[in-house]
Amino acid sequence: EATGEHEMGLNELLAGVRVAGVVCNQWGDTGKGKVVDVLAERWADIIARGTGGANAGHTIVCNGKEFVFHLVPSGILHDGQGKVNVIGEGVVLDPHVLVEELNQLDRAGLSYNHLRISHESKLVLPHHLVLDRAREFKKGIGRIGTTGRGIGPAYEDHVARRGLVVNDLLNRDVFLQKLGRALEGAQRELHSMELDGETTREIFNHPLLLNGRFYHSTKLFDGEAIAKTYLEEYGKRLAPFISNTSAFMRAALGKKNVLLEGAQGLLLSVDHGTRPFVTSSDSSINGLARGVGLRERDVNACIAIAKAYMTRVGSGPFPTELGGRESEAHCNDHSHDREFERKEYAHVNVNNGSELEKGIALRVKGSEYGATTGRPRRTGWLDLVALRHAMQFNGSLLFLTKVDVLDAFKEVRVCTQYEYAGPDYNYGGSMLKSGDVLDFFPADSKVLECVQPVYASLNGWGTPTNGIKTFEGLPVELKNFIQFIETHAHGKVCGLSNGASREDVIFF
Ligand code: IMO
Ligand code: MG
Repeated sequence: EATGEHEMGLNELLAGVRVAGVVCNQWGDTGKGKVVDVLAERWADIIARGTGGANAGHTIVCNGKEFVFHLVPSGILHDGQGKVNVIGEGVVLDPHVLVEELNQLDRAGLSYNHLRISHESKLVLPHHLVLDRAREFKKGIGRIGTTGRGIGPAYEDHVARRGLVVNDLLNRDVFLQKLGRALEGAQRELHSMELDGETTREIFNHPLLLNGRFYHSTKLFDGEAIAKTYLEEYGKRLAPFISNTSAFMRAALGKKNVLLEGAQGLLLSVDHGTRPFVTSSDSSINGLARGVGLRERDVNACIAIAKAYMTRVGSGPFPTELGGRESEAHCNDHSHDREFERKEYAHVNVNNGSELEKGIALRVKGSEYGATTGRPRRTGWLDLVALRHAMQFNGSLLFLTKVDVLDAFKEVRVCTQYEYAGPDYNYGGSMLKSGDVLDFFPADSKVLECVQPVYASLNGWGTPTNGIKTFEGLPVELKNFIQFIETHAHGKVCGLSNGASREDVIFF
């Protein structure tokens, strides 16, 4: 039912659509949660996640109360309307995190009876968290800056054919047998790292590992304790929700409105992103469809989210970063957590100041700090080379978020090409030479680290955009910005967000 002016656009956009996906075309944190939330409320019967795990983070405000979820789909708060929420088989599921989220819902008096968990979701177990954290402990080369949620090691176990799945929580003997094999490998790796006893205990002593409950002084992992907690606590608690969700999804095709909720972003995809600084699943629409048991061709509309500027958390190349390497070091040095509260940055300004300071001002303006860790996100200009790369996998339908964050900028920059500035390098069958202009996105970090962005400079709109409800009502400079993106990325911008609340979403 049409309630607002932008409803026309939304109805038109989803006319005839039965399966829609919302994915991110950048490095995550683009505000896809808000778009998912609007579609979940107004359109979807089923909301399903198919990729990633508790590395994702979305904040949802409901009746003035703030919820931070990592695993449950964003539609969970609409449970009262009978909307089914699915955690698909492509997800790596940490039962501890999920149980905590269910507890959070219990405390708020909210139901989650329509949650379904795939019996084939991959289990995140203590050894995954330990390995993830231990590898990151070793500073220097090879450090990805992961979220420490065990994501990489859990997907590794899956691909190595020694992983456990949710169904194993329901069958004690199989669980114990598989766990034994998985722990053996983890023990071997940990031993080979030669961490001292104190460091090892520190790694185990983490809330997600129940503050050391799974640590064993001689064997490293206490298999008994793991089995007890995972089978008797988590298994029993989650059992009522476990089923064959892929069969359920396939049966719903053509009958229900299905919303696929993406996690992370295309540039973090293990298949298409900036390797090795990526997550361990395919965050494209293809990976998402597969992760819920569907085929890509079952998806009728893919809405790909791009922020009007860009951010990145953790390590890895970011050509358009404001302040470049200096910014990366600044953000990854944890002494700057919660910098927005500090006097020393009170003067930073988006229009005059060093590049680093503009980046800080942009971060403060856009509240670009991790939802769970408070880590400052690295900030920079919109990169159309990277966007075009993402669109090759996610299609040409774009949704632009956080345009209001750029309201105060006198000049808005957009990267249209790269200039290679590294040593001669054989890439994709031709020799890259310094000075070469690149129209393509080299996902290989070795190459991407060596490119300089070529910018187009656009006039800022210099006026508040929050509260504007139609495309026609937007300032002309913002319309130009949108048109510039459409022309240079060969896409269609179907809407934008111009504020933090879910009312600040416009579909053209
Ligand atoms: P949402 O869904 C932003 C990044 C991490 C790290 C890399 C690998 O909120 O957009 P991992 O723990 O997955 O092995 O970390 O990926 N990363 C994200 N960055 N938003 C996310 O999720 C992310 N999930 C993972 O910072 O660089
Ligand atoms: Mg995030």
